[in-house]
Amino acid sequence: MMRKSVLSLVVSAVLAMPTTAVLAHEPGTYESPIVEMRVKRFKQSGADIQAIFKKHMGAGDFSAIEEAATLMAAWGQEMPDAFPEGSNSVGADPAIWQNFDDFKSKSDAFAKAAMQLKAVAGSADAQAVKKAAQAVGGTCKACHDSYRIKH
Ligand code: HEC
Repeated sequence: MMRKSVLSLVVSAVLAMPTTAVLAHEPGTYESPIVEMRVKRFKQSGADIQAIFKKHMGAGDFSAIEEAATLMAAWGQEMPDAFPEGSNSVGADPAIWQNFDDFKSKSDAFAKAAMQLKAVAGSADAQAVKKAAQAVGGTCKACHDSYRIKH
């Protein structure tokens, strides 16, 4: 009995933590570890797509493109899990959780475009790689237009 109430105190303290974190929110800090994780992965995708266009394509570095595409494809597959119900943030539009099937299909479109880029990078065909990389960029934008709040 005693143990149980101590445990439930601990549980309620843990449950109360996100609220405390929100109250203590300051610019540059994030609401929860999962938000921090997903922002980090989005930043990685941003850096990857930029490097593809600004660096790897000019250098004809198809293996670097393949590597970046592999990372992005994995992220596209895991993305819906990084948006559990209640993980609201300054950057995530609440519409995500009202249209989660659509959000999932947009993550999926991104993952598929990244896999396509990976496949095409293996062929070392610069024109085809450029087209496939642009298609990936299109899937980022399609989702951001509906579900990202710029801040
Ligand atoms: C299925 C939806 C979806 C796809 C696909 C997607 N994004 Fe995002 N992106 C979001 C959402 C939602 C956020 C806001 C996340 C948050 O702040 O919690 C975001 C945030 C970002 C951020 C801002 C991170 C920060 O500094 O706060 C960058 C950069 C970004 N995305 C780049 C990309 C790039 C590049 C791609 C494609 C290669 C991409 N995203 C694909 C939904 C998506």
